[in-house]
Amino acid sequence: MNAPFQARAGLRDPFTAFVCDDATADMLRPVAVEHGWSPEKVNKGGLRNAVQSLSISASPNILFVDLAESADPLNDINALAEVCEPGTIVIATGQVNDVRLYRDLVASGIHDYLLKPFTVDQLRDTFAHAQQIISGPRGEAHADKPHVMTAVVGVRGGVGASTIATSLAWLLGERAHRSTALLDLDIHFGTGALALDLEPGRGLTDAIENPSRIDGLFIERAMVRANERLSVLSAEAPIHQPLVTDGTAFFQLQEEMRNAFESTVIDLPRHMLIQYPHMVHDAHVAVVVSELTLAATRDTIRILAWLKSNAPQTKVIVVANGVPSGGALEISRKDFEQSIERPVDIVFPSDGKLAAQSAKLGKPMAEVAGGKMAAPFNTLANMVLSHATEEGAGDSKAMVGARSLVDNLKSMLAKPKAKAA
Ligand SMILES: Nc1ncnc2c1ncn2[C@@H]1O[C@H](COP(=O)(O)OP(=O)(O)OP(=O)(O)O)[C@@H](O)[C@H]1O
Ligand SMILES: [Mg+2]
Repeated sequence: MNAPFQARAGLRDPFTAFVCDDATADMLRPVAVEHGWSPEKVNKGGLRNAVQSLSISASPNILFVDLAESADPLNDINALAEVCEPGTIVIATGQVNDVRLYRDLVASGIHDYLLKPFTVDQLRDTFAHAQQIISGPRGEAHADKPHVMTAVVGVRGGVGASTIATSLAWLLGERAHRSTALLDLDIHFGTGALALDLEPGRGLTDAIENPSRIDGLFIERAMVRANERLSVLSAEAPIHQPLVTDGTAFFQLQEEMRNAFESTVIDLPRHMLIQYPHMVHDAHVAVVVSELTLAATRDTIRILAWLKSNAPQTKVIVVANGVPSGGALEISRKDFEQSIERPVDIVFPSDGKLAAQSAKLGKPMAEVAGGKMAAPFNTLANMVLSHATEEGAGDSKAMVGARSLVDNLKSMLAKPKAKAA
């Protein structure tokens, strides 16, 4: 079992280096600082020390290792592979100028081999490329996969908006094969990173403090990678520190994410919606997460009305989450739908066991869900994509697509409960 806090305690360093000579160390340290890494992570001692150190500690995201003192670099690199955790990007350096060695090293999983003496610019280039890999692909396949931007808003606190946002982002990455960014705008209490068993890092806080720094490279560096196709920007800002921003940073982030990823999911707390209404202007889809209670009915009505007048072009998906089975409903689905004057698109049953399991594993609920809980997640991802791609085709066509999905879901839910579980 991989409880989030245990894993977070043994978290990966962004960077560690093991070098053989002072000249290389002196060149590396300032470049490390430029990247926000500690210069103390530049250790003396080459490959052997790297193997020793990594056999007892977590592997960094980027490992720089000097092969200068290694008599049999290829063999030693294989020893390193045994102690290095998957996902670490290894950059090697050495003075052996042999293309066969280079090829063999690359075949053993080395990201790059810098031949000594190398320049600071070569070093920067190789780090930039490594970070690009860590933050997820950029600019690929944009032509056939136009960007899809989705904002997820909970109408009340604790209705499960973040659960749904994280799951949707994961589904778009894993199931729809889109490089996806999850932007968690719950600056103080966000759970986007926590839910995926990641450390949020300082990226979002830095972006808010210094919006002029936000560009493509910033995005590559600041985003924390959850898996090959999902990167997260989230924060745990100190709670004594009020959020001071005119929203420029969020706008810039949205813009850069649109360039760098195939989809963006914004976890948008409802007070941020009020504060920074422009965040939904560019969203193709707004997922409004509610629950079947009186208070949530009132606020669904208000938020739907707000969306209609402030972002009429944004398609809306209404989700009822945490719906208890049996008669424990505060308000029936039918009454809820009558009050909000539109159908609920997707119903997520209440499933405390699944929620607990997902939290314990540090995985999104959609990844852990099976049986009757998997269907609504898949429907959500499909609806988001169909709404976004049918945008140019006009509302009526989009609604036909959406309705048929809803009908499918209704018929799924109508099946006997015992069978579905
Ligand atoms: N369908 C569900 N069944 C049972 N528990 C759920 C369900 N959906 C979410 N939860 C649980 O409800 C809690 C609140 O979820 P979450 O943090 O996603 O809500 P939120 O709307 O983002 O809250 P906040 O207002 O704090 O941002 C979490 O513990 C989550 O695991
Ligand atoms: Mg939340």
